[in-house]
Amino acid sequence: MPNFSKRIDRSGSDSTKWTKYRDRDVIPFWVADMDFEAPDFVLKALHERIEHGVLGYAEPQPAVIDAACKWFWYRFNWNVDPDWIVWIPGVVPGLNIAARAIGSEDDALMTMTPVYPPFLSVPANSNKRLLASPLLYDGEKWHMDFDDIENKAPSASGLLLSNPQNPTGRVYSKSELSKLADISLANDVIVVSDEVHWGIVLDKNRKHVPIASLNNEFALKTITLIASTKTYNIAGVNCALGVIPDSALRERFVEETTGLVSHISPLAYAASLATFLDQSSWVNDLIAYLRINRDILEHCVDETPGLAMAHVEGTYLGWIDARSLQVEDPATFFETHGLGFSNGVDFDGHGFVRFNFACPRDLLLEGIERLKKAAGSC
Ligand SMILES: Cc1ncc(COP(=O)(O)O)c(C=O)c1O
Repeated sequence: MPNFSKRIDRSGSDSTKWTKYRDRDVIPFWVADMDFEAPDFVLKALHERIEHGVLGYAEPQPAVIDAACKWFWYRFNWNVDPDWIVWIPGVVPGLNIAARAIGSEDDALMTMTPVYPPFLSVPANSNKRLLASPLLYDGEKWHMDFDDIENKAPSASGLLLSNPQNPTGRVYSKSELSKLADISLANDVIVVSDEVHWGIVLDKNRKHVPIASLNNEFALKTITLIASTKTYNIAGVNCALGVIPDSALRERFVEETTGLVSHISPLAYAASLATFLDQSSWVNDLIAYLRINRDILEHCVDETPGLAMAHVEGTYLGWIDARSLQVEDPATFFETHGLGFSNGVDFDGHGFVRFNFACPRDLLLEGIERLKKAAGSC
């Protein structure tokens, strides 16, 4: 059983998350990586690759391609043809490449908000317009507004989907995804689906469904961006897959990478191969640990006047509504109370903060004490 409660000092390391507050008594609960060691079998694969000694340019070998296709089948019952896969160094580069490969200049790309900040800048990066469709909150969960999406779809050439959704923690059901797929197909909208959080499904009655796996006709209108980096906590190793069943769309995607997107490191292939071959209990153990962290955080927020939070079905991110505290800028306010959250404004969520609860439990409990104290001071 992995020891997720082990405290690892990341403060002196190159960690983006911990460097930000290096000289301050602020616990970082922001950027989406976990304060856990990667699994032994991934570290072993990296050590073995380094032992070879030569780290030149690398190509995906049949073993990793084959393992990826079997992984799609084993994890999601999705039959992926090896030709559909494009290897890229990250999901965010994939979003930007996809936006360039779709439609023409000045077209609109739709996305549901609040959403992971790069989604909001991707359209402008490719001289396109952002068409936001706000998610609706029913007091428990966030939902797509299908009437609004249907109204806006005729003016969009693409739709950027985050599923499991960052930051609201929704894991969309098959019927929600089918509805979205039908609207997209009817309006000739290409769906770019970022599924990087596929492995962190916390609710037992939820399952990650790749939207492209729903039907073959719709699959031809999709670009799926997926990686094992979040689930196995190897985000810094930089490897992702674009799955693009339509050959013309795939060619346009590949063309857009030329000269701009770097080769994938041999270490990334080695680590990814190890994750695709994994059939151990590591992911289930991780989920069991995160589920308890989630429950602790949800309980604390429920009990704290001025705070509210949707139930987190998936991801390790709590989307906390702090509007009732009536502070000007919640992220800065919490920082002054020793809590480093992601600022909701960056996600198109004014008055919200995002709490990354993927950390050893004692650190989470320390954060929760600070959260209660901060809210109580208002
Ligand atoms: C929804 C989502 N997409 C993409 C990324 C980043 O992916 P990558 O590091 O592969 O670019 C993140 C990281 O937090 C994320 O939450």
